[in-house]
Amino acid sequence: MIDTIATHLPWDHPWKAQLHYFESIESTNTHAKELAHQGAPHGTVLLANTQTGGRGRMGRSFQSPPDSGIYMSVILRPKCLARELMHLTCATATAVVEAIATSTGFRPGIKWTNDLVAGKRKLGGILTELSVNSQGEVDWVIVGIGINCAQKPQDFPAEIRDIATSLYTCIRKPVDRAAVAAAMMVSLEKMDRLLPDANAFLPQYRADCITLGQEISILRGEEIRHGLALDVNDEGALLVEFSDGYREFIQSGEVSIRGMYGYV
Ligand code: BTN
Repeated sequence: MIDTIATHLPWDHPWKAQLHYFESIESTNTHAKELAHQGAPHGTVLLANTQTGGRGRMGRSFQSPPDSGIYMSVILRPKCLARELMHLTCATATAVVEAIATSTGFRPGIKWTNDLVAGKRKLGGILTELSVNSQGEVDWVIVGIGINCAQKPQDFPAEIRDIATSLYTCIRKPVDRAAVAAAMMVSLEKMDRLLPDANAFLPQYRADCITLGQEISILRGEEIRHGLALDVNDEGALLVEFSDGYREFIQSGEVSIRGMYGYV
């Protein structure tokens, strides 16, 4: 796939020479962390055909079968404080939506905070991980993205079959994974240049976020609360109004969001 990706990239794409392709790997995010520790440069991209231990948020696994998805991690080294990057996952989601829309003609929605969705099912997810020094400055950031591309409904394991979908199911024709992956590299590189400015992403994030205006359940450990999702602030936190009228900004960290009547 790597040769084909190169043909889809602009000749002067700054990350082109730092693209590493793996036929099989445990997790592109885990390996990216190792490379970042060893000093890998800003804009290093890892792409795999399959992952044997793909990871999602909150210790969940991310199913990554061969020849079926895009499993990509990018190492970034923004020169800023960690607290200036609160909008990073939202910026990444916006960039990936844009890449999928331009390369396939299909525009997914975003389920706050880091899931890409289509037809009320999960199409993909984003896992951002960062290392910060004692002054609060960012050492490196890993932006990890997984997109289900070629799966047919019956290809998903039984436990996620009712909540998962793929680009193939959405566009009803074979998906050119190399073209989508290249579009993601273009879009993420543009995102990286605009990253200091949260306003470059948040309006579009809000427009694509299907959680807003919905009655939702918020799961934090064993506790479940219900509320109405009102807005996303410039740091990517979700403003929720609870049934007693109390409003609170929810950080994505340790909560899981569900619609009242299903996954979305
Ligand atoms: C989630 O759904 O919570 C996030 C899923 C992120 C999956 C991607 S696939 C590429 C990268 N490597 C991983 O192990 N995880 C991310």
